[in-house]
Amino acid sequence: MSEVRTRAPVFAGNWKMHKGPRDAVNFFARFTEAYAAREDRTVIFFPPAVSIEAAARALRQRTDVRLGVQNIHWEPTGAFTGETGGPMAFQAGAHYALAGHSERRHGMGEDDATVARKTRAALDAGISPVVCVGETLDERRAGQLERVLSRQLGTVLDALAGDPRLARVLLAYEPVWAIGTGVVATPDDAAAAHGFLRALLREKLGVHAGGLPILYGGSVKPDNAADLLNAKDVDGLLVGGASLDPDGFANIASVDTVRAPGDL
Ligand code: PGA
Repeated sequence: MSEVRTRAPVFAGNWKMHKGPRDAVNFFARFTEAYAAREDRTVIFFPPAVSIEAAARALRQRTDVRLGVQNIHWEPTGAFTGETGGPMAFQAGAHYALAGHSERRHGMGEDDATVARKTRAALDAGISPVVCVGETLDERRAGQLERVLSRQLGTVLDALAGDPRLARVLLAYEPVWAIGTGVVATPDDAAAAHGFLRALLREKLGVHAGGLPILYGGSVKPDNAADLLNAKDVDGLLVGGASLDPDGFANIASVDTVRAPGDL
């Protein structure tokens, strides 16, 4: 049986530094009208940390729509001014956490070891980490795509080697050159990188590799979502800018896969 059959598609919206608590409530008032619950997929939003609790209240009738936090510290609590600990994000309503988003790797100086620590911290807090990996344009042009992905993913997998909680991890392939630029990877680009990541997972995790979804992110819009989602080895979409519009994201989250629901 193909591994793909065990993974239902995941549609995630990363709001980045947009939408305070009131805006989040307004967004969900519209989104929940535009998007009807479906059992064949998972929908997750990553609001700013200050808006998670309001979002959770707005979604209390819609347990099909899940919430995550965009970033956590590697320690659960402590003297870390301005940071958010995993347990407090969980308390606010986050069941997922992004780790290693490129805006944190490249804008905030997070290295692979830090990403691995944050991945573990999420698991410790009962939160599923979404580990983001991806190459810059210079790295791609220099033929270093596979080297960069191996290093980024390998650091996390090695740090958690033998940990059964790895089954709760999700991956996102987000080529840095495609994030927020309007330049989208082609479905073939996505399939190549996802295939490489899937092979790496298989090599490191063996039989357990099949269950980990790999999301594609980078300039996903309503008009390219179907082609990207249906590219080989793509199990979901991580959407930035286009997740800020409730109707647009409802369209994206409603995209059908060519895989029959019974196969998911
Ligand atoms: P984008 O962002 O869709 O605006 O390119 C994707 C992301 O950063 O997760």
